[in-house]
Amino acid sequence: MQIDVPATLGATLRGARRVVVFTGAGMSAESGVPTFRDDLTGLWSRFDAERLATPEAFHADPDLVWGWYEWRRARVRRAEPNPGHLATAEIETLVPGSVVITQNVDDLHERAGSRAPIHLHGSLFAPRCIGEDAHPADVPDTDPGDGGRIPPPRCTHCGALVRPGVVWFGEQLPIAALNAAVEAASSCDVLLTVGTSGVVYPAAEIPRIAMLSGAMVIQVNPEPTPLDRICAVNLRGTAAQVLPALIASAR
Ligand code: OAD
Repeated sequence: MQIDVPATLGATLRGARRVVVFTGAGMSAESGVPTFRDDLTGLWSRFDAERLATPEAFHADPDLVWGWYEWRRARVRRAEPNPGHLATAEIETLVPGSVVITQNVDDLHERAGSRAPIHLHGSLFAPRCIGEDAHPADVPDTDPGDGGRIPPPRCTHCGALVRPGVVWFGEQLPIAALNAAVEAASSCDVLLTVGTSGVVYPAAEIPRIAMLSGAMVIQVNPEPTPLDRICAVNLRGTAAQVLPALIASAR
């Protein structure tokens, strides 16, 4: 599908000193990684998020929660970056000093060539134990098929259960990542918000921080979101359609 990107946006990107690309689950949708809240394909339409993505759920049923995240990790391992991820990495080349901030726990930005994406919600690939020292854990790749239970491994240092390295509902965001994200959002000229519903805080503050700091905020999403009203431009299309067109107009 051909997406028309206003010609002025290319010049805006090219002239920027720093671009922030802020991404959510929609960024990885065209790589085959399901989003959280979309009808039909949303992960949570098959499972109860509140049952799975909380510390309480892990304590109550570690095998179910670990199996669930191992299933997601296996899907992500099989996925490939899509043209949206590749265009995002190209923005970093076009405008050095640009930063990717993602809510996604996959590694598709890294695999597309983005230098050091800031992961606000952690990573599927950084498991750690639930002991006091939160030792990083080396976990073999397993594929539980369609969401089966798997007992989590034990930490080789302290014996505590190993948990996914993601941020669960009710947990604090990693402070270094949050600080770096706020700094980047406060100092960019342009922020592209791509494939996020903008309803999970504090991450959803990032586009607003950029807007209040004087940046032009551009949204890429096929659907309206609560962020529409703070965006100078709303491009209704998918990440894999719009971002390559945007970067082409900036070259
Ligand atoms: P959501 O699933 O809430 O929203 C996905 C957004 O992507 C929606 O606005 C869709 O319209 C849009 N979308 C779908 N396909 C797209 C495509 N191909 N291109 C562009 N946009 C598309 O995902 P997030 O906003 O990332 O947090 O959710 C935020 C957080 O809520 C997640 O990081 C996760 C979840 O609970 C934690 O796990 C802590």
